Amino acid sequence: MASKYVMNKLLGVYIMARKPIIAGNWKMNNNKAESKALIEELLPLVKDAQCDVVICTPFTDLWTAVDLTKGSNIHVGAQNVHWAEKGAFTGEISAKMLVELGVEYVIIGHSERRQYFGETDATVNARVKAALAAGLKPIICVGETLEEREAGKVEEVLVRQTKGALADLSKDDIDNFVIAYEPVWAIGTGRTATADVANDTIAIIRRTLGEIFCPKCAERIRIQYGGSMNPKNVKELMAQPEIDGGLIGGASLKAVDFSQVVNY
Ligand code: 13P
Repeated sequence: MASKYVMNKLLGVYIMARKPIIAGNWKMNNNKAESKALIEELLPLVKDAQCDVVICTPFTDLWTAVDLTKGSNIHVGAQNVHWAEKGAFTGEISAKMLVELGVEYVIIGHSERRQYFGETDATVNARVKAALAAGLKPIICVGETLEEREAGKVEEVLVRQTKGALADLSKDDIDNFVIAYEPVWAIGTGRTATADVANDTIAIIRRTLGEIFCPKCAERIRIQYGGSMNPKNVKELMAQPEIDGGLIGGASLKAVDFSQVVNY
């Protein structure tokens, strides 16, 4: 039986050990009017979702998203957060600012930030600690490039990124963050990791989480797959024992597509 299910001895049935979580990463898309239209269309389509549903909008759309999703099952996330509480950091946003707005989640260490904005394992770790301290739930991204995969360095890269991102965290934190495995070569390319490859790679991350915290702790941590996930491939990916959800880019910008992923 798949490891995401555990036997409930009292009921004599297998139940989900980890609640799936599907999050949309809008990236730098949607103005206020577009956000409003997308969320209003999405609300009725995902209201019966069996998983946690999150939309991660640009900073400028967060207020609109929090306002429109009040009382619904859609949770709101940001796409980055600074590690300092406040101060002379022109252009940055603190975790407390996000919390005060009603934001619950924050994507940290997305490969686009690592690639274009100098994000490192150390800055990812600093952001994760600040987010957790403020009560935000980080969605922490890890993933190898095509070059790294072809050079046989997948495990080395993922162990380094995972240990780096989670340095100094304690077992008390394990229910408050999500890991997103996003192979860089599968993002926005239409090239999805096969379900097998995604599952096996996520198993490496879970083993690493076991080393950092404890094997039982690792069984509780949710790990998403991200990279060209869409209504067509979601079922197969979500059927994998190690895959607990998705971080969705392109397909999260259309209400019907995103709802089909959420309602897989
Ligand atoms: P796509 O779903 O567009 O490939 O993007 C994935 C991603 O980067 C989500 O964070």
